[in-house]
Amino acid sequence: MAYRNIIIEKKDGVGTIKINRPKVLNALNKDTVGEFSKAVGELEQDKNIKVAILTGEGKAFIAGADIGEMKDMSSLEAKEFAEIGHNLLMKIENSRIPFIAAVNGYALGGGCEVLMACDICIAGVSAKIGQPEINLGIHPGFGGTQRLPRLVGRMKAKDLLLTGRSIDAKEAFQIGLVNKVVEDEKLIDEARKLANMIAEKSSVQTGFIKSLVNKGADIDLHSACSLEISYFSSSFSTEDQKEGMTAFLEKRKPMFKGK
Ligand code: CAA
Repeated sequence: MAYRNIIIEKKDGVGTIKINRPKVLNALNKDTVGEFSKAVGELEQDKNIKVAILTGEGKAFIAGADIGEMKDMSSLEAKEFAEIGHNLLMKIENSRIPFIAAVNGYALGGGCEVLMACDICIAGVSAKIGQPEINLGIHPGFGGTQRLPRLVGRMKAKDLLLTGRSIDAKEAFQIGLVNKVVEDEKLIDEARKLANMIAEKSSVQTGFIKSLVNKGADIDLHSACSLEISYFSSSFSTEDQKEGMTAFLEKRKPMFKGK
């Protein structure tokens, strides 16, 4: 399908979604959230796609939800907007595809919330990350009050949420919000290298691992370990398990089919 505010690219099993509203630093209005969600669905349904990269056009990843559009929203409209945002981020989190956030520049408010729904995050050294909603007289509406403490701990999350301060990529790395910080010019190449590495693995297993880690984080340890036993058992009825172990014993590189 044709997109107005999104650029989608597919190459060698890697899908890239780029938010393309650079004039407003890729702020997410309702239309863009809708297109973003469709783009995630398009990659999800394309069986050739094994990994996705999310990034932004120009000097921002995403500078948040669109403040111009939100200013005059009624409570009901705000509820609907928060719901479509949450649905998008759940779609990313529940997708079989690992998502890599390649954070160029600002990832604020909704941008930080998109980052946190991804599986791995690489940031350019000049990235600025934060939840500045408090400065607008609101609080995060796309999961920031929930995913941030789960990722970095409650005290650090409350520091960022209550002050609204932005942190640089190095501090984001120190608190565990970013996996790796790279030179700005190398960001997309580094994200692609990582994506290519994951794309070579069994896509059954990348989906299983993502699902186990995400589901396990929300349930008690005993139930989570039972879930792991069940997925582990299912793995032994896949072609990829046979191929991976045979290739190891034959001292060759495995060729996974995602079956
Ligand atoms: N919504 C709408 N427009 C935005 C925007 C946003 N979130 N962020 C930036 N823009 C627009 C600016 O209004 C400006 O437009 P004009 O050229 O028409 O004036 C353009 O993008 C460029 O921005 P600046 O001139 O402000 O650029 P800067 O380099 O001086 O500052 C910035 C960059 C620090 C990111 C600043 O733009 C800023 O603070 N943006 C808002 C960040 C923010 O508060 N995000 C949270 C939004 S609320 C939210 O996300 C709720 C939620 O959880 C769902």
